[in-house]
Amino acid sequence: MASLTVRQLDERIKKRLRLRAARNGRSVEDEVRTILRAAGEESGAEAPQPISPPAPQTGRRAEATPAHDVKRVLLIVGGGIAAYKSLDLIRRLKERGIAVRCILTKAAEHFVTPLSAGAIVGERVFTDLFDPAGEFDIGHIRLAREADLIVVAPATADLMAKMAGGHADDLATAVLLATTAKILLAPAMKLGRMAEPLEIAAAVERLLSASTQQTLAGRRVLITSGPTHEPIDPVRYIANRSSGKQGHAIAAAASAAGADVVLVSGPVNLPDPPGVTIVHVETARDMLRAAERALPADVAIFAAAVADWRVANAGAQKIKKKAGQTTPDLSLVENPDILATIAHRKSQRPKLVIGFAAETENVAANAKEKLARKGCDWILANDVSPQTGIMGGNRNTIQLVTPAGIEPWPPQSKDDVAAMLIARIADELDGDKA
Ligand code: C5P
Repeated sequence: MASLTVRQLDERIKKRLRLRAARNGRSVEDEVRTILRAAGEESGAEAPQPISPPAPQTGRRAEATPAHDVKRVLLIVGGGIAAYKSLDLIRRLKERGIAVRCILTKAAEHFVTPLSAGAIVGERVFTDLFDPAGEFDIGHIRLAREADLIVVAPATADLMAKMAGGHADDLATAVLLATTAKILLAPAMKLGRMAEPLEIAAAVERLLSASTQQTLAGRRVLITSGPTHEPIDPVRYIANRSSGKQGHAIAAAASAAGADVVLVSGPVNLPDPPGVTIVHVETARDMLRAAERALPADVAIFAAAVADWRVANAGAQKIKKKAGQTTPDLSLVENPDILATIAHRKSQRPKLVIGFAAETENVAANAKEKLARKGCDWILANDVSPQTGIMGGNRNTIQLVTPAGIEPWPPQSKDDVAAMLIARIADELDGDKA
């Protein structure tokens, strides 16, 4: 097959392709292949469909996906007020070309009926472990086996407790016990509070693509994340409001894409992302040491909010407050710039060095200046003014600044920013190979 030269497309199409590829967790080249394959199959023989091929929906257009690429989700709806959102979730999944089967627990039937769920799924829904028809034509083992991912939404406390205890006294719990597929839980307790269907659909897409798209396999990625703590004395320190959510999300996305990830993290209240080598540090100087030790790397992403200054005369003992005495005189010295140090290395400079620019004004202009000053290849610029809620929040709005120009990304969750960045990196590294 002839190779694809995406660079010859005009910028507008390339941008749309990149967005679409990122949404689907693929590299741009893979996205083009998928489109071409779908177009080929549309014009050729009708492909056999495994289970409930997704019906075309209004709103976001369902993409034509070849039958063998159709991902299958088994949605288990638990009994809670939030069950009404599961109908919208089915619609959102089908819009994305995902085939959906649905199980309603007995309690769920108090909130949604098999008829309404079945109408949206486009086939019968399953409710009973001992349904003779169900066991004859499908059976709970097949339901468990024929899913790439199981989603429990809403996952009630009762359902989660049964899972934890290994119960299997109804269809939902029997399937959950039997499956070897990944299970995504969307917990909800009382009052219908559950993640929104769109957020769950995005998590489903990520999990489904993570299981197949190893776009960074064989690549080593260094990531810094979180704040640094600069001691004043053994009990006090200077810090900032960084949560580490963006850096950790990037580490998780890189790991899911098959990269060998070293995450150097300042103090955060986040679990270590699965599958990464994590180095916990406190100060900027420790972070620099750990980052240098992690080299060589193909890509380095500096998402940490490193303190610019540290206290020159940090006390070895706790500084005492004494009546009548003047306040302590803290003098500050500049911390090493980790990003600039690594970007300017003569040896072992990663192929792609990526920084962040957290600004409160003139975001793009400052980021362009920073790109040159720090010697990095890309900068992800974001506005962290308090009214944006970005610092510590779950969403982010990025402008990607490269020597070629500025690319505004849509407002999205930090997880989606991470997925988009990883897709973009994979694309860039693939381009290098060509
Ligand atoms: O200069 P400024 O702090 O705005 O630069 C932000 C970028 O530089 C981020 O990518 C951050 O992780 C990195 N940085 C660093 N070491 C520092 C300061 C910033 O790696 N001491």
